[in-house]
Amino acid sequence: MSYEIFNENCLEGMKGLADDLVDLTVTSPPYDNLRTYNGHVKDFRFEPLAQELWRVTKRGGIVVWIVNDATINGSETGTSFRQALYFKDLGFNLHDTMIWQRAGCTAPESNRYYPNFEYMFVLSKGAPKTVHLLKDRKNLSAGSKKSEHATLRLADGTFRKPSKNWIGVETSEYGVRFNIWRQPQYTARGKVHPATFPLKLVEDHIKSWSNAGDTILDPLAGSGTTAVACVNLARNFIGFEISAEYYDIARERIDKAIALKEQSLF
Ligand SMILES: C[S@@+](CC[C@H](N)C(=O)[O-])C[C@H]1O[C@@H](n2cnc3c(N)ncnc32)[C@H](O)[C@@H]1O
Repeated sequence: MSYEIFNENCLEGMKGLADDLVDLTVTSPPYDNLRTYNGHVKDFRFEPLAQELWRVTKRGGIVVWIVNDATINGSETGTSFRQALYFKDLGFNLHDTMIWQRAGCTAPESNRYYPNFEYMFVLSKGAPKTVHLLKDRKNLSAGSKKSEHATLRLADGTFRKPSKNWIGVETSEYGVRFNIWRQPQYTARGKVHPATFPLKLVEDHIKSWSNAGDTILDPLAGSGTTAVACVNLARNFIGFEISAEYYDIARERIDKAIALKEQSLF
């Protein structure tokens, strides 16, 4: 397995990547100007990056784009939706608009409900080639027989006729997850990256949309969470981070994850 991270502007670095190379990208851009990233927020250019993501993604590959808006003069910018629609204009399918629900909220205001989610746009280049839906949602009706009314309602308001296999089948203990994932944010203090993802959130996307040995990209690697998940789950990693300080944090985390993995093998 190889884990490569470069202290470089991703728009420069990605020029060296072949077309149709990447199975899955899990990444998160600067959210408007909410954080300065050591002055590098100015180096982020969405449209050229999205075009490069289209070029390097394999047919059937996926991009998971985790993003949110700033609120300026009382109005959300809508940047997240604009970006999702731009990806569609490039040719990506908007496969799923998922939500990451955090444990707490950011900057509550007195005139709106407290914000506690971020968008996770799952974009695919054609139909996704790899899908392993996580099935760990405890079914409230586990063990009971499925009702015929649990089937889909049709456009005219009537219910679709249940298939013969449907009636009489017991609901299993665990069902496929809903597309809202609750995961507390990463809150380490000290000299850390200001927007580190929770490792489990990234690992769950990697398990869902890729296989062991696949090539995973994070062009905006930050503290290297996607890379650490790749070490843990035996995927190859390519990443770029423009800030030398964050690159060092990522490098250290990757080396530590590799050492831990090697220890666990003995
Ligand atoms: C939202 S953070 C990513 C956090 C990351 N997911 C983690 O878990 O640590 C976005 C990162 O993109 C970096 N960045 C901004 N513009 C960049 C560019 N053009 N090339 C590479 N990195 C860039 C910033 O320095 C910042 O660390």
